[in-house]
Amino acid sequence: MIRFARRHMLGLESYTRDELSFVLETAGAFKEISERNIKRVPTLRGKTVVSFFCEESTRTRVSFEIAAKRMSADFVSLTGAASSAKKGESLLDTTRNLDAMRPDIIILRHSSSGAAEFLAQRVACAIINAGDGAHEHPTQALVDLLTITEHKPVIAGLTVAIVGDILHSRVARSNIFALRTLGAHVRLVGPPTLLPPEAAQWGEVVHNLKEGVRDADVVMMLRVQLERQGRNYFPTIEEYARYFCLNEEKLGAAKPDVIVLHPGPLNRGVEIASDVADGPYSVIMGQVTNGIAVRMATMYLLVNRPSAELEEELAEARRAAVNGDETIATGRGF
Ligand code: CP
Repeated sequence: MIRFARRHMLGLESYTRDELSFVLETAGAFKEISERNIKRVPTLRGKTVVSFFCEESTRTRVSFEIAAKRMSADFVSLTGAASSAKKGESLLDTTRNLDAMRPDIIILRHSSSGAAEFLAQRVACAIINAGDGAHEHPTQALVDLLTITEHKPVIAGLTVAIVGDILHSRVARSNIFALRTLGAHVRLVGPPTLLPPEAAQWGEVVHNLKEGVRDADVVMMLRVQLERQGRNYFPTIEEYARYFCLNEEKLGAAKPDVIVLHPGPLNRGVEIASDVADGPYSVIMGQVTNGIAVRMATMYLLVNRPSAELEEELAEARRAAVNGDETIATGRGF
């Protein structure tokens, strides 16, 4: 049975439980490579990966580069600021020019929601969305899921509190889609101004931090994204911190074996206190470590996707699904 046949990694909204499980299993298998003395395998030898980051990044950009190099790929890094975008070239023209150099993968971070999907429809290589505006950040959510499964083997049934600036968070969106698919109970916690209109459809909505983390198995803190906020969503940072900064006292309402995640970068003292960020329940550094394995798995799966013939079979299965022939469609694992 084919368990992963995607051409791009754009977002987790349409991923099935089986696809998510398969990517996580693959990432788990890749973890061991980073523990070796010689951290290099030939898996992507002869392949070319281009990272094109039009927004700042520490974790995602570096972990993709390390992951590609650990798999022996040729890796080229370009930032928006150093590209010809500065001379007025459009995102599409820049990416088409990169694609003309025949890379296997382009990893894109961009401030516009939908940028990765827009390009995926127009280039030959695989596109990985490394964060597009307030839309999705799929590999970060996979990192978070892998980290959760290392502490809580079964995600179904867990209560996961996602806290903070959910309105602007692509990390939250990818996590919400994937956690719901995997059967978690999702609780969205924050001031009403920082919750999107869809929040009530996505999960339980709570506006008080202590109530929001009560009996939670997992607490996922989000950065307050001041750079995406065009207006004041709360009176002052101090006021936000007073009500929504997770400290030890508030975390005490969660389950005794709770784990605390944060995708980074941290605003210490704003959404998370240092006693929690550096405390015994924090798995934040584990998330960073898992970033390598998840990105290795993502690139590996996209480059080693099924053959052209198989793709045609899959396309046929999808057409059959649209036409209502469920036998063929479900037989192919959709
Ligand atoms: N979590 C995350 O996306 O961090 P960076 O912005 O540093 O890549």
